[in-house]
Amino acid sequence: MGKMWSGRFSENASALLDQFNASLNFDRKLYEYDIKGSLAHAKMLHAQGILNDQEYRDIVEGMRKIHDEIESGKFVFDISDEDIHMAIEKRLTQLIGDAGKKLHTARSRNDQVALDFRLYVQAHNEIIRELILNLIDTFLSVAKKHASTMLPGMTHLQHAQPINFGFHMMAYASMLKRDYERFESSFSRNNFSPIGCAALAGTPHPVDREMTAKDLGFEGPTLNCLDTVSNRDFALEMLFNIATMMMHISRLAEELILWSSSEFGFVTLSDAYSTGSSIMPQKKNPDVPELLRGKTGRTYGNLIALLTVMKGLPLAYNKDMQEDKEGTFDSVETAEISLTILNEVIKTMSVNKKRMEQACKIGHLSATDLADYLVEKCHIPFREAHFITGRAVALAEEKGVDLSELDYEDLRSVDERISPDVLEYLSIRHSMNARNSEGGTSTQRTLEQIETLRRWLESKKES
Ligand code: ARG
Repeated sequence: MGKMWSGRFSENASALLDQFNASLNFDRKLYEYDIKGSLAHAKMLHAQGILNDQEYRDIVEGMRKIHDEIESGKFVFDISDEDIHMAIEKRLTQLIGDAGKKLHTARSRNDQVALDFRLYVQAHNEIIRELILNLIDTFLSVAKKHASTMLPGMTHLQHAQPINFGFHMMAYASMLKRDYERFESSFSRNNFSPIGCAALAGTPHPVDREMTAKDLGFEGPTLNCLDTVSNRDFALEMLFNIATMMMHISRLAEELILWSSSEFGFVTLSDAYSTGSSIMPQKKNPDVPELLRGKTGRTYGNLIALLTVMKGLPLAYNKDMQEDKEGTFDSVETAEISLTILNEVIKTMSVNKKRMEQACKIGHLSATDLADYLVEKCHIPFREAHFITGRAVALAEEKGVDLSELDYEDLRSVDERISPDVLEYLSIRHSMNARNSEGGTSTQRTLEQIETLRRWLESKKES
């Protein structure tokens, strides 16, 4: 059988053209959506009297066979069929004869591919959201367990103020909540059906787009056919949402890499998610977080690639748009495996409470608290308090201790107005718990954040 579009051609397509032009090698991933879309289209054609009962039954039966053949690996993918749409349609015609040829009535590959790809993106949007919820769940458990495990909070990667590890985990949980919401909003914005738009202008056949849309789980049909067959915003949103989420994951990955180094020793990644060196027997490497950080790059690349493909395309469909799929598949697969493995890494890592708390004795973390004490208790203007605190830090440095380890006499020698209750202010735990403002790091506020996000999580799991 020649090409389905070969009517006006007198020469066969070259093998080189097939190789360059075909998308079958990658768009075969869409087979499930292609069959689903065709079945909905056939059902509507039948309801509209365009297909008779027998033709409709034959199509349903043929599609069932094709589905089985693909799933069992028996389907013959032939690159000269160009894409999954034509490969399936050709096989259908082989199986059921003329009824197969009627299926493409009131349809074009332009609305067909727009439908299949959108169904794919929407389905994976739901999968990714589920994975995000699982990961947030894990963050909440770790956060609850470590809401009073102190570690140095940093700015410029320098010790700044003491925080607790639960609070740190909740920062990532908050990012993932936003990621979830981005996917959720993209889902509803794009939950409209392209099928029935045909090539670009609609069709003279009496299609019922409302019916196919509802049948396929969409909110309704899209508004404008010309836009619909040209539109890849749903894929771009997916790519952007993934890229942003991977940026968050990459930042956590970076911290895990630092934290598992000998210098930090804050966490130990489980053996099941670490790798060894082929030459240095003592080594245990954080390959998983490194790959999470590394793979973030390709998700940015996929976003930029599709944005670039789309810019400057005249309406409506152009073959350039076939380039939309590989990068999207890649980002989706990267996101799904990344979320899954990160969840396991977090669940199985051990948190070295002692090392974190020891690290809090480096870098005079309670210096801000001393300045606050001088302002609050001694009524000293903040600028002066800042200066006095600087002198206390210098004294601690001179003695080779942390500010929190100076005794009352030491502090008194810096400024006479200081009284013994200063020692409580300088304790690292006091410093952490003093940050009790809404959203702050105190154990109480951290638990409150966990509670709020837990409630949100439960509401999402229910819906
Ligand atoms: N394989 C094509 C793609 O992925 C399907 C649509 C082809 N449409 C066309 N008019 N050539 O974009």
